[in-house]
Amino acid sequence: METMAKMEVKTSLLDNMIGVGDMVLLEPLSEETFINNLKKRFDHSEIYTYIGSVVISVNPYRSLPIYSPEKVEDYRNRNFYELSPHIFALSDEAYRSLRDQDKDQCILITGESGAGKTEASKLVMSYVAAVCGKGAEVNQVKEQLLQSNPVLEAFGNAKTVRNDNSSRFGKYMDIEFDFKGDPLGGVISNYLLEKSRVVKQPRGERNFHVFYQLLSGASEELLNKLKLERDFSRYNYLSLDSAKVNGVDDAANFRTVRNAMQIVGFMDHEAESVLEVVAAVLKLGNIEFKPESRVNGLDESKIKDKNELKEICELTGIDQSVLERAFSFRTVEAKQEKVSTTLNVAQAYYARDALAKNLYSRLFSWLVNRINESIKAQTKVRKKVMGVLDIYGFEIFEDNSFEQFIINYCNEKLQQIFIELTLKEEQEEYIREDIEWTHIDYFNNAIICDLIENNTNGILAMLDEECLRPGTVTDETFLEKLNQVCATHQHFESRMSKCSRFLNDTSLPHSCFRIQHYAGKVLYQVEGFVDKNNDLLYRDLSQAMWKASHALIKSLFPEGNPAKINLKRPPTAGSQFKASVATLMKNLQTKNPNYIRCIKPNDKKAAHIFNEALVCHQIRYLGLLENVRVRRAGYAFRQAYEPCLERYKMLCKQTWPHWRGPARTGVEVLFNELEIPMEEYSFGRSKIFIRNPRTLFKLEDLRKQRLEDLATLIQKIYRGWKCRTHFLLMRKSQIVIAAWYRRYAQQKRYQQIKSSALVIQSYIRGWKARKILRELKHQKRCEEAATTIAAYWHGTQVRREYRKFFRANAGKKIYEFTLQRIMQKYFLEMKNKMPSLSPIDKNWPSRPYLFLDSTHKELKRIFHLWRCKKYRDQFTDQQKLIYEEKLEASELFKDKKALYPSSVGQPFQGAYLEINKNPKYKKLKDAIEEKIIIAEVVNKINRANGKSTSRIFLLTNNNLLLADQKSGQIKSEVPLVDVTKVSMSSQNDGFFAVHLKEGSEAASKGDFLFSSDHLIEMATKLYRTTLSQTKQKLNIEISDEFLVQFRQDKVCVKFIQGSQKNGSVPTCKRKNNRLLEVAVP
Ligand SMILES: Nc1ncnc2c1ncn2[C@@H]1O[C@H](COP(=O)(O)OP(=O)(O)OP(=O)(O)O)[C@@H](O)[C@H]1O
Ligand SMILES: [Mg+2]
Repeated sequence: METMAKMEVKTSLLDNMIGVGDMVLLEPLSEETFINNLKKRFDHSEIYTYIGSVVISVNPYRSLPIYSPEKVEDYRNRNFYELSPHIFALSDEAYRSLRDQDKDQCILITGESGAGKTEASKLVMSYVAAVCGKGAEVNQVKEQLLQSNPVLEAFGNAKTVRNDNSSRFGKYMDIEFDFKGDPLGGVISNYLLEKSRVVKQPRGERNFHVFYQLLSGASEELLNKLKLERDFSRYNYLSLDSAKVNGVDDAANFRTVRNAMQIVGFMDHEAESVLEVVAAVLKLGNIEFKPESRVNGLDESKIKDKNELKEICELTGIDQSVLERAFSFRTVEAKQEKVSTTLNVAQAYYARDALAKNLYSRLFSWLVNRINESIKAQTKVRKKVMGVLDIYGFEIFEDNSFEQFIINYCNEKLQQIFIELTLKEEQEEYIREDIEWTHIDYFNNAIICDLIENNTNGILAMLDEECLRPGTVTDETFLEKLNQVCATHQHFESRMSKCSRFLNDTSLPHSCFRIQHYAGKVLYQVEGFVDKNNDLLYRDLSQAMWKASHALIKSLFPEGNPAKINLKRPPTAGSQFKASVATLMKNLQTKNPNYIRCIKPNDKKAAHIFNEALVCHQIRYLGLLENVRVRRAGYAFRQAYEPCLERYKMLCKQTWPHWRGPARTGVEVLFNELEIPMEEYSFGRSKIFIRNPRTLFKLEDLRKQRLEDLATLIQKIYRGWKCRTHFLLMRKSQIVIAAWYRRYAQQKRYQQIKSSALVIQSYIRGWKARKILRELKHQKRCEEAATTIAAYWHGTQVRREYRKFFRANAGKKIYEFTLQRIMQKYFLEMKNKMPSLSPIDKNWPSRPYLFLDSTHKELKRIFHLWRCKKYRDQFTDQQKLIYEEKLEASELFKDKKALYPSSVGQPFQGAYLEINKNPKYKKLKDAIEEKIIIAEVVNKINRANGKSTSRIFLLTNNNLLLADQKSGQIKSEVPLVDVTKVSMSSQNDGFFAVHLKEGSEAASKGDFLFSSDHLIEMATKLYRTTLSQTKQKLNIEISDEFLVQFRQDKVCVKFIQGSQKNGSVPTCKRKNNRLLEVAVP
């Protein structure tokens, strides 16, 4: 913890100051520099400035971000001068000295209307609430204390020309704490509510907020219950000028107030009663009177419209006749007498307004008491108290009346107590610190207070005297009296006063008096002083109120109880107020005061505007310059030794960086070293006192310079340190990395060596193994070779031995044998594969061995011949003859005559014409004795024209015969020996010529030309027969052009390739003597 505390950065008010944070340090000090300083700070949103321990607050008229919970934490438990000026610093100081030093505190907030007093008081309260103890119970107390504000503001604040939320009452609140500093509760005192506002408001101002809030925010149901209408204009007591205020949501505020009332502890029926009273007040304003003359000549008034009255009575539970009577009569009781007089219209209105004002102001006091009941501390233990005073500020209006007089009197008193306490405190400090006291000149306003409150000839005393005096009493008589009594007073001014200096002062009207307050001169209209001081409410009215069945209203008018009738006059408003101010002052004097002096920067409620004249005026009447002067009468600046040494110790070698001895000696050493002139400072018991701000600023400058140097030094050292640590880190890392790397490298190398060794080993083993294998193989081969050699050798030996037992041609034999075997096999296979015996079968098995090629062919030939022979052997003799003839025909014509192939298939029949059987040819048959070889019908070509005639062609062993086909009569007979030659073409025709031997008998007519279908057979038989008979070969000529002998002529027979048009029959034509053309198709 200790080191933590040491580590904490010590800041000061003097750091980053805008202007000066404490006016005491202002150099030179004048009104101008003072205002300039305030303005400079205001322009930089520094709204707080100190005068010693007093806080000046300038209303910023805008929300600043300086009240956040973080700010609260900043200011919490910090010394007053440690941070820039703030209301929180003052609150903290007050709270801590209350908690830690057991000193009761009061916070006095003063300033003009709209300067920010109420806001300041709320800030103080919220700060204290934030920093004091926590817990469910404590929180409830806090919440109640804080929520009392909206309730009181609703009923006691109103919009004025100066302030939209102007407090129209003075408020002093005691917050009570236990010894730990936890809040226990509180007590609120209120001072002089400005009740005249209930019935009448100046131009541009409003009645109290609550009226508007009720009408805007209440539900229809509630309004009906209260017999109200939402329309503001319905109510005479509400000025229409400014019913709505910019930026204010009355309806929402109504809900806030209802909520706050609930938190503070109002029961529902209580809150309702309160609103009923408010409604009644509002409706009272709507009661109107009209004059009515009675016979006895006395003036009398009458209520115009009784409806409103009726509703009020229903609301409040008052008998309507009672109230009506109270508005018409006034009863004065003196001793045992009772005199009743009628009220004229003006008096009736006065009575109505008086009732409304009283009803409202009493309600307000009741509210304060009710709140007090709720927030009252529940224990009897000793309490520490912090009082917060938010009282209306000094007021100077155009028309100043009794209220302003009272208010300004209160401010006078406060100023006095301020002067007294400040001076007292200053003096006490000097004594405490053992410093010589020098007298300070300042304005003491005690004389003004005396003018007002002196019991014998003070203004308030005069007023009371006038009010009590029998006879006609008017404001004028009061003024006269004042003029007599106060004429000589320095601060009293009046036209009528004997003092001649005001006789001609036209700024001073006759019905006025003027007081020179400490804050300026104020002109008071004397009109209304007496009435307001009397604060008269006719007894009839209070009695009527007491008769109400509405419990709250009844309790507000205890004097209406006829049983407690009190003939003594009630104390006047002035004396009441004087008394309460006196109590307040007494109360404040027992406490340690803390001042917040609020200043209003402009009249426009606007941000960023700083009206110097306006501020100057406030500074003057608040006596702030005096305040500064008093503060620095002796010494401008003081500071405890410890913080002073802490702040400046770097300026001297002995004290830097640590001073071991007591702080005071340290400061002495420091100041000596710096050669500050002796008269510029003094040593108190616990503080050093510096006479002149200049000295302090010099110290500050030196410090700033030194701090820069130190910053450089720190930077230097830090950089060095950083580099070094970085270097060390790098080095360490480098070693680690190197170690790792080496290990890794070594591991890798080892792995490599290991694997290499394995490879080498395996190679060597392999090599060795192979070597052994080779040897073994070699050995084995040697063994095998030896065996082989031995075997061969044995073989050779055996063969040598046994060669003589083999024949020399064994090989040939074997060869032959083998060949035989093959042949055998061949033939056996052939046997099985033999083809059929048909001579025309062309199949023949394929050849198995090449060397058997010729054998195979030979075998095929033989087989063929053999099967042919076999085939021939089957033939009979006749068949043999036919085949011989066929063979002969083949030898003669094959490949020579185109007709041949068609003849092969035709069997040679020879005797086509069966002469034997035909009786027609009996004669012919008989004529021929020999065997007939051919008998056939042929076409004989006429030698002359080539036309053909049918003839029977007969061939016998020796002759060739031609006979008529019809008759069978022989036409020609040619012995075969006379036939020399047969001619025919090579073509496919049946034409043939039979050449006869020249000179023979048969040849007289010439050669024969025939055509026959069986040409081949006939030619063949003719040839054979000739051969066998004559032993001569018959000449057969085959040619396409040959000569024939017709009688004497030789005619050429020419065969031409004819066209198809004659069909397939060849045609013969005699062309001329020499040519016979045969067209063969
Ligand atoms: N610290 C602040 N920050 C922001 N606005 C502020 C501050 N103080 C005051 N104001 C503004 O100024 C207005 C008037 O302030 P406030 O009601 O506190 O004045 P007052 O001194 O109490 O006046 P009166 O004497 O009429 O009651 C406030 O409604 C608010 O708008
Ligand atoms: Mg206020």
